[in-house]
Amino acid sequence: MMKTKLAFFFIVLLLVVVVFILMKSDVSLLGTKSHKSEMSTLREDEIIVLVWVWPFGDHFPLNTCLVEFGISGCHLTADRSLYGIANAVVMHHVDIMYDPKSLPQEPRPRFQHWVWFNMEPPLIIKNLHLLDNLFNRTLTFRQDSDIFSPYGQIVPSKQPQSFTIPAKSKLVSWVLSKWYPGARRTEYYKELKKYIPIDIYGAKHKKLSWNDFHATISQYKFYLAFENSVHKDYITEKLWSNAFGSGTVPVVLGTSRKNYERFVPGDAFIHVNDFPSPKELAAYLLELDKDDEKYRKYFNWRLHYQVKVGGGWQRSYCKVCESLRSGPHYQVIPSISKWFLNNSVFIS
Ligand SMILES: *[C@@H]1O[C@H](CO)[C@@H](O)[C@H](O)[C@H]1NC(C)=O
Repeated sequence: MMKTKLAFFFIVLLLVVVVFILMKSDVSLLGTKSHKSEMSTLREDEIIVLVWVWPFGDHFPLNTCLVEFGISGCHLTADRSLYGIANAVVMHHVDIMYDPKSLPQEPRPRFQHWVWFNMEPPLIIKNLHLLDNLFNRTLTFRQDSDIFSPYGQIVPSKQPQSFTIPAKSKLVSWVLSKWYPGARRTEYYKELKKYIPIDIYGAKHKKLSWNDFHATISQYKFYLAFENSVHKDYITEKLWSNAFGSGTVPVVLGTSRKNYERFVPGDAFIHVNDFPSPKELAAYLLELDKDDEKYRKYFNWRLHYQVKVGGGWQRSYCKVCESLRSGPHYQVIPSISKWFLNNSVFIS
């Protein structure tokens, strides 16, 4: 009697398991319908880069690597069902930093590279220690990343370019999205404004819409391209787009002048460290305001160089393909935290 009961129990259990497996496979069959069609368009030699999370929730076009950046054979996808065949999975740090479970939970295929994507300074990012021994490549604003993804670039022009300095009627402007109390830039600003008037846009000050951005800022002779952090190679759109993109002279605060000069001609900007204190900087700006010839010298570099801003998120993801193609070498990063936090000062 006991035996038949037990046998019955096992038969029921077996049935339950079989039904469960069937359901699972059915579900995944349904779920992979679109992925099947995406897969059928893939070419043998294409590199598949999986955008694991949309950075800050921003959706961007996935098929521009060739047309915009001349990078061929690169297939970006946001379809997680391609995880098993993706050559690289790119994880944007800010979107995964609060929960280790937001990383892929399935076993990693042997050939797959996990790429740590981060454009933020330590001030913003958290929980780097959760990433020990997980990632194979870094993709950041730091030049010593495996894949370098700067906020902007200056490239030599093929022929001398003419540049017209926009008409100037105002002195100093600053656009900021957030005050960081106690940050170096906040303290510096408080001193500086004692000696020179500064117009602030954003963060509950003067209003500025994106449509008027460059037109408004271009009227100013100087722009405070003050970074929220002092970190090696951390030079953001504040310089590239806000200042250079508006045809104004940037006054930079951030990493050292030497570090800036790695990426930007030395006569294209004014560095706060060039002056013993904000008072002397203010005096210098007022002096330039009166001396047009001297002011104009800050635009001489435009004759031979051009500014290339960003390229959007796409550029960074497309560069992953380029990097994988140039050498799919085996590598594990034992501690991103050590690499990122301990080498944060630029030493020439
Ligand atoms: C990537 O890193 C993981 C985790 O340490 C490692 O197991 C894997 O072999 C590495 N893969 C490559 C292609 O470097």
